[in-house]
Amino acid sequence: MKKIQIINGPNLNLLGKREPSIYGDASFEGYLKKLRVRYPQCEISYYQSNIEGELINKIHEVGFSYDGIVLNAGAYTHTSIALLDAIKAVTTPVVEVHISNVHAREPFRHVSMISAACKGVVLGFGLDSYRLAIEGVLGEPSI
Ligand code: DQA
Repeated sequence: MKKIQIINGPNLNLLGKREPSIYGDASFEGYLKKLRVRYPQCEISYYQSNIEGELINKIHEVGFSYDGIVLNAGAYTHTSIALLDAIKAVTTPVVEVHISNVHAREPFRHVSMISAACKGVVLGFGLDSYRLAIEGVLGEPSI
């Protein structure tokens, strides 16, 4: 059983209520149930925090034993060298995820402090970005 940790950062607890024209009207909890049904071969754990240090603690906690971390660091993506260092410090591959296409938004969202340490980045596909990131973690034989 592959172990995957999804980590959501600040303000993502408000998915479904927060700026629905950008982030949609579905809650993450409902989406998570569907993901778990879709990937019965994976143990998908979920953690959300609005606090930078708690996100770092979670990366440290799972980052030497899980098969993959799917991380939407929210606005900390654009500011946090501490998160960059945490991703570099662990051995579990991290996939950076964004619901929105950050490159089509304000210039300050075009910069990611964490991308360089991540295995890959998925953005702009709405909540489906998380599923695509899981696909990246699981890997497929090349076609
Ligand atoms: C986000 C994009 C970030 O710029 C923003 O601060 C978020 C959500 C996204 O999923 O599109 O909180 O990471």
